[in-house]
Amino acid sequence: MRLVLLGAPGAGKGTQAKMLIDKFGIPQISTGDILRKHVADGTALGKEAKGFMDRGELVADSVVIGMVKDRLSQSDCKAGFILDGFPRNTAQAATLDGVLESLGMPLTRALSVDVDFDILMKRLTGRRTCKGCNQMYNVFFSASKAEGKCDKCGGDLYQRDDDKEDTIKKRLDVYKAQTEPLIDYYGKKGILKRVDGVGDINAIFSKITTMLS
Ligand code: AP5
Ligand code: MG
Ligand code: ZN
Repeated sequence: MRLVLLGAPGAGKGTQAKMLIDKFGIPQISTGDILRKHVADGTALGKEAKGFMDRGELVADSVVIGMVKDRLSQSDCKAGFILDGFPRNTAQAATLDGVLESLGMPLTRALSVDVDFDILMKRLTGRRTCKGCNQMYNVFFSASKAEGKCDKCGGDLYQRDDDKEDTIKKRLDVYKAQTEPLIDYYGKKGILKRVDGVGDINAIFSKITTMLS
């Protein structure tokens, strides 16, 4: 399966992708996670990207496209992959199509996780992420067993710099203007499915696996 996950900030793309990795044995490629690693490691790319991320704007297409090309050429992607947070606009989507065609592995599915905007603010302000394994928690909906510690690996939990109310508003605007049109883009290609992303995380996962099998 070669899958693109679409959905607004906080829709649950990362949460569901982590469960799909285990189910299908294919890697998740999250441009947001890769960028945050660069920021944490203090690389030149990370220093350049941080300002855009903290403002809730998109990082330059050339930067993220380069990262994704590199990742897709690694051998574990031959069995399939889950793209999470990429593509984010039609230019990225068109470039991705070209890259995958030249690798002989076109997308097989795009899945949009649909959640109303008024729910997303609470999900994002309540999100906590593990420094060690990137597992997501939520202080309102799905807290870790021990406060501030990851259930899976015991790592410390942190709050993302862009999960502040003003930045979240900007990210939602950017999503509406630039990313939402991709639902149509993949619809026209005939590979789009949509799932209601509100409700119990495991129930949503079960709907998704049925749709994808
Ligand atoms: P990115 O990291 O991709 O962030 P995003 O798209 O804003 O999406 P999120 O990661 O916030 O949401 P998610 O859907 O993964 O939700 P999650 O599963 O965590 O991008 C960050 C930034 O990097 C961008 O703003 C941009 O600057 C840059 N960037 C990244 N990719 C780029 C690209 N391609 N081009 C240019 N720039 C790029 O869930 C959220 C919370 O809700 C969690 O707490 C979770 O526990 C909880 N939750 C999940 N599901 C449920 C449920 N069913 N019920 C209740 N709570 C739930
Ligand atoms: Mg995410
Ligand atoms: Zn962890």
